[in-house]
Amino acid sequence: MGRHRPRQNSDQDGDGDTQVMPAQGRGRNLVAAEDEVHTVQVKNVRKAFGNFKVLEGLNLNFVDDAVTTILGPSGTGKSVLLKHIVGLLAPDAGEVIVFDQDIWKISEVERQELRKKFGVLFQDGALFGSMNIYDNVAFPLRKHTNKRESEIRDIVMTRLEEVGLAKAIHKAPGEVSGGMKKRAGFARALVLNPSVVMFDEPDSGLDPVRTALLNELILKMHEEHGGTYVLVTHDISTARRVSDYVGVLWKGQLVHYGPSEEAFNSPDPFVRQFLSGQPAGPLGMD
Ligand SMILES: Nc1ncnc2c1ncn2[C@@H]1O[C@H](COP(=O)(O)OP(=O)(O)O)[C@@H](O)[C@H]1O
Ligand SMILES: [Mg+2]
Repeated sequence: MGRHRPRQNSDQDGDGDTQVMPAQGRGRNLVAAEDEVHTVQVKNVRKAFGNFKVLEGLNLNFVDDAVTTILGPSGTGKSVLLKHIVGLLAPDAGEVIVFDQDIWKISEVERQELRKKFGVLFQDGALFGSMNIYDNVAFPLRKHTNKRESEIRDIVMTRLEEVGLAKAIHKAPGEVSGGMKKRAGFARALVLNPSVVMFDEPDSGLDPVRTALLNELILKMHEEHGGTYVLVTHDISTARRVSDYVGVLWKGQLVHYGPSEEAFNSPDPFVRQFLSGQPAGPLGMD
């Protein structure tokens, strides 16, 4: 099917809410469905902890060089999904294909090698408290490359300037704000030029203004460096702002997936309720 999905930046989503952000994502032209390339593929993944089923046959091919947002209420398995992709949690059934390899059919050593191709930004930025911002960002380069300190310095300072932290290099993580920690974590996640970058709720714990600033930074870095970005959030305004594609996770499955514009204009009552954050609708509190 020669289905083209040009992204228009239309401003009406029909529900009359007033968004400060441009209403429908990024206004980028997406590739046609048949031209999509998928470096990260999740196939029929099932995962339970004891009797508690979290993922119940999840399928998702992430589109390369796009920003895909995974939305879902707390406790639906968003972090569990990301951990499967980065090789921290093994599925009970199904496959996780990354760079053409099933990462759960290779050795732990090979998996660790593969992990270097990922940039990961978890909830708290996960900085080492005992290292200053500079050393935190330099850490992956020192650990995984043979670069000289002078080269490392160039890379680290470039990244820190991009995220607006060039003046904070000597500060310890405990001395800076939550937003700065996230930016430092972001700089560190990008320092090895990963082709896949994953964010687990980068907006958690930030106020709306800092969330908006972080979203702009994510878009800027994606524009400049490209890459396949997967962003987990429960913040709908973040999803609106940064997504090319939106997946909605609910009760262990992907209940909606598609271009951002389609998601935010969906006629489906569940998707509408979920993406507009309205209390009334088919989605209950259970
Ligand atoms: N290692 C684990 N052991 C047992 N239960 C877990 C584990 N990791 C996650 N869970 C459970 O799986 C569910 C989904 O968790 P999670 O993916 O963290 O949710 P979220 O969508 O908020 O990121 C939760 O009920 C959580 O308690
Ligand atoms: Mg989570």
